[in-house]
Amino acid sequence: MEINTLINKNKIKFEDYYKKLLHKKLNKNSVLSRAMIYGSMNGGKRIRPFLVSQSAKIVNLSPKYSMLISSCIESIHCYSLIHDDLPSMDDDDFRRGKLSTHKKFDEAIAILAGDALHDMAFEILSSNLQKFDPKLNLKLLNYLSICTGHNGLAGGQSLDLQYENKEINKKKIMEMYEMKTSKLFEFSFAAPFILSGEKNHRILFSKKFGLLFGIIFQIVDDLLDETNNFKKLGKTPGKDKKQGKTTLHSLIGKKKVMLKCKELVNDFINKNREEFLRNPILVKLLFFNIERLE
Ligand code: IPE
Ligand code: IPE
Ligand code: MG
Ligand code: MG
Ligand code: MG
Repeated sequence: MEINTLINKNKIKFEDYYKKLLHKKLNKNSVLSRAMIYGSMNGGKRIRPFLVSQSAKIVNLSPKYSMLISSCIESIHCYSLIHDDLPSMDDDDFRRGKLSTHKKFDEAIAILAGDALHDMAFEILSSNLQKFDPKLNLKLLNYLSICTGHNGLAGGQSLDLQYENKEINKKKIMEMYEMKTSKLFEFSFAAPFILSGEKNHRILFSKKFGLLFGIIFQIVDDLLDETNNFKKLGKTPGKDKKQGKTTLHSLIGKKKVMLKCKELVNDFINKNREEFLRNPILVKLLFFNIERLE
C-alpha cells in the first residue's frame, strides 16, 4: 500500500481514539477545554502518530500503547503549534486552514490551552503505563521532558526567534531544526523501542532514525512555506521570508537542499542496512518525507 494511504488510515484510527480521550478528560463547558479541543482536533496530518505506529510494529508493542504514546505526542505537538502562531512568536492567523487558536479564542486562552495540552501529555503517559517496568516508565517520561524542554522543542523555538533577521550559518540552522522539530520526531520513533526494553544499540538506531526524519521534515516544511499556496498549506504562505527567518534553502539554495536530503538518507540507510532490510517500510518513509515536495 502507498505510504499516503497508510498514513491516512492511521490518522482515522488515531483521531477516533484521541477524540474519545479528550472528551473523557475535558469538560466542554470550560472555555479552556474548548480551546484545547479546537487546537488539537483541527485536521493535522498526524505524521508523528504514524511514525509511532510503525515503530510499535517493529518492536511488537500493542496498538493500545501505540495510541497512548501518539496521543501524548500530538498533545505536545499541538501545544507547540498553538504557541508558535501567537503574535509574539510567528504571528499567524491561520492553522490547518482555520483560524489559529488565539484568533478563535483570545491570546490568554491560547497560551493556557497550549500549557494545558503540554501538561496533559505527561498526564497521559504517567497514568497509563503501569503494566510496564517502573524503570522504563520513568526513563520514557524523563526522555520526553528532555525532548520538549530547553534542550529540545522549547529551546529550538527560542533559537528560531533569536535568529530572525540575523546572519546565521548552516550549522546553527541545523542545530535549531534539530531542537525545535526533530527531538519530538526522535521521541515518536524511539518511545516504543524504549518502552519495549529493546537493547541499547537498537534504541540508538530508533533515535537516529527519528532525528533524521525530523530534520528533513523541517527542511521540507521551510521549502513548502515558499512554494505552496494557502489551500495546500492551511497556513499563511511566504511567512518565513516575511519574518526574516533564515532557512537551509535560503543559505544553500533549493537544489543543494534536495541533494543534501537524499545524501543524508542514503548514508543513513547504508550505515544501518540490517534494520532497513528487516523493515523496508522505513526506506519508503524516509523517501516519502523528501517527496512531500513533489
Ligand atoms: C508543522 O508540523 C510544524 C513543524 C514542525 C514543521 P506538521 O506539518 O506536522 O503539522 P500538522 O500537525 O500536520 O498540522
Ligand atoms: C515550527 O516551525 C516548529 C514547532 C516546533 C512548532 P514552523 O514555525 O516552521 O512551523 P509552521 O510552519 O508555523 O507550521
Ligand atoms: Mg515557528
Ligand atoms: Mg510558524
Ligand atoms: Mg514552517
